[in-house]
Amino acid sequence: MHMILLTTAIVTSFTGLLAVLLTLADRTIANYGEKKLVINDDKEYIVKGGSSLLSALIGEKIFIPSACGGKGTCGYCKVKVLEGGGPVLPTELPWLSKEELDGNIRLSCQVKIKEDMKIYIPEELFNVREYEATVEILEDMTPEIKKVRLRLNEGEEINFKPGQYIQLKVPAYEGNDEEVFRAYSIASSPEEKNFIDLYIGYTGGIATTYVHKFLKKGDRVYINGPYGDFYYHDNRDKEMVLVAVGTGIAPILSILRYMADNRIDRKATFYFGAKTPNDLFELELIHSFEESIPGFKFIPTLSRVKEEHNWTGERGRVNVQLEKYIDNGEGKEAYLCGSPAMIDTVVEILKKKGFTDDAIFYDRF
Ligand SMILES: Cc1cc2nc3c(=O)[nH]c(=O)nc-3n(C[C@H](O)[C@H](O)[C@H](O)COP(=O)(O)OP(=O)(O)OC[C@H]3O[C@@H](n4cnc5c(N)ncnc54)[C@H](O)[C@@H]3O)c2cc1C
Ligand code: FES
Repeated sequence: MHMILLTTAIVTSFTGLLAVLLTLADRTIANYGEKKLVINDDKEYIVKGGSSLLSALIGEKIFIPSACGGKGTCGYCKVKVLEGGGPVLPTELPWLSKEELDGNIRLSCQVKIKEDMKIYIPEELFNVREYEATVEILEDMTPEIKKVRLRLNEGEEINFKPGQYIQLKVPAYEGNDEEVFRAYSIASSPEEKNFIDLYIGYTGGIATTYVHKFLKKGDRVYINGPYGDFYYHDNRDKEMVLVAVGTGIAPILSILRYMADNRIDRKATFYFGAKTPNDLFELELIHSFEESIPGFKFIPTLSRVKEEHNWTGERGRVNVQLEKYIDNGEGKEAYLCGSPAMIDTVVEILKKKGFTDDAIFYDRF
């Protein structure tokens, strides 16, 4: 009995000592103190060591694209690390090409600040801001897609290029205890600066469950942006091929609204793919571009038409129509938005037709 009590006492003391040592280690070894973060050689910040580079930047109101909210699963939060940052982690490797590794590109959500650092980020990211907004419209476009209009606070304006996206902050809600950010393309015109329209498809994931099951008209939300290198290019002599499936229509609508608002006289054909007529939406708006954009043509195409749909338009996926209507890529440029599988198929077709890499722009999601 005496022996058991003695052993228990020794084990308890040892465990306690270990816990104290671990706490001390955390406070001393893992306490990196304050570190200097120099950005683009001319901006200096004092940040808390031990935090991720991404969260330190957010703390300074510098917003880097981060569609997965820092989990290392989107590959969006790339920055160039010039000094500090330690070795590249295995979690970063799947997202970095050989050129990026050679060029010291890192995933800012995975890099911990343990020493003074020097980094480079594109200057335009300093224009990215956080905005508070009110849900003004929340409307079903199809059983799976909602249109969300977010009006910024009185007097606030967001400047963006048609095609770019924002990140929506999704708070914790019943069934989800983590705050996350998700990317959504802006569908409204850049000429409208006090509100943005989004089209959000339901996937059963964290953000789309929040939007489809919990969000209400009048709710306050936070967004940050704008981001993205998918946007309208002002090559007015080039004919445009626009291709979208599902919510991929969002950035394409922003581009078309911009063209309509500015009376841009440029040939543009929009191929919109869906399964059935019920999956097509904003048709009245799209047809209005036939009036407001002189060279505009609309080709909706359905892949799962049944007899009872009485559909007289094009049938098949968007790639079928591209094969049918496009002879060659000469003097044309393409804007594609939709699923990775659709983008891969369409890019392959366009390349076969002679589109060069620099004449194909896309956002996959
Ligand atoms: C640049 C960019 C622009 C984008 N623009 C748009 C846009 O305009 N409109 C739009 O709708 N989306 C857009 N997206 C996609 C968007 O950012 C989100 O990835 C998408 O809405 C899914 O987010 P989530 O939090 O709901 O899913 P997550 O929780 O991140 O889950 C990821 C995926 O896992 C699956 N999943 C997760 N949980 C479940 C579950 N319980 N049951 C079944 N499946 C599950 C879902 O398929 C889900 O899509 C864009 C993405 C990028 C990168
Ligand atoms: S935020 Fe998604 S990988 Fe870093």
